[in-house]
Amino acid sequence: MTRKLVLLISGRGSNLQSILRACQSGQIADTEIVCVISNRAGAPGLALAKQAGIPTEIIAHRNYASRADFDAALRRSIDAYHPDLVVLAGFMRQLTTPFVTHYLGRLVNIHPSLLPAFPGLHTHARALEQGVCWHGATVHYVTPELDAGPIIVQAAVPVFPDDDPARLAARVLEAEHQIYPRALAAILSGHCRLEADRVHWSAPFPVLANTVIHPQLESVS
Ligand code: GAR
Repeated sequence: MTRKLVLLISGRGSNLQSILRACQSGQIADTEIVCVISNRAGAPGLALAKQAGIPTEIIAHRNYASRADFDAALRRSIDAYHPDLVVLAGFMRQLTTPFVTHYLGRLVNIHPSLLPAFPGLHTHARALEQGVCWHGATVHYVTPELDAGPIIVQAAVPVFPDDDPARLAARVLEAEHQIYPRALAAILSGHCRLEADRVHWSAPFPVLANTVIHPQLESVS
């Protein structure tokens, strides 16, 4: 049976694009993006979804009096599609506890840092300010505390002396596009799941060239 993804976005949509390609190529097998929802009408990712023939919805947070009202509307829209997984792909809104609890174990996010370092915004500039040697991206299950849910996979990239936030962001984004589709494939195939606050693996995560990733490697020499 075809598995269904609902993607939530706020902007550019490059992660959406990498996930879409993975669905089309079979890297994420038997899976369809059934809807892309944005909280911003002008999100460029919406055009990418439309071009691919994916239904889109705009649920503008500004139209709701409270976070709870916005999240309730979002939940109504999402649940109409009966998704197997709800995927935050550059979705820049904090979600309320009832919303997150409703989707626990079926709600995942990608964040542009090696969590728990640099939760929140402006991660690349903050990493440079701190002088870290490694930076990266994290795919995690979403729990009520912001950017603090159980970690599924991380990709680390080096930080170079002449980096600026844009250059570093581009390097991290490339890693995001590598790990997010693979993480989704692992979850959808049942190889990775959330059990009582911990991530359980029953199959190894694929090794990626040029990227230091998760301990669950396919082979360790
Ligand atoms: C990505 O770097 C993603 O990790 C980040 O927003 C960007 C979206 O890019 N997400 C967050 O910061 C969530 N807290 P995209 O629209 O091109 O996928």
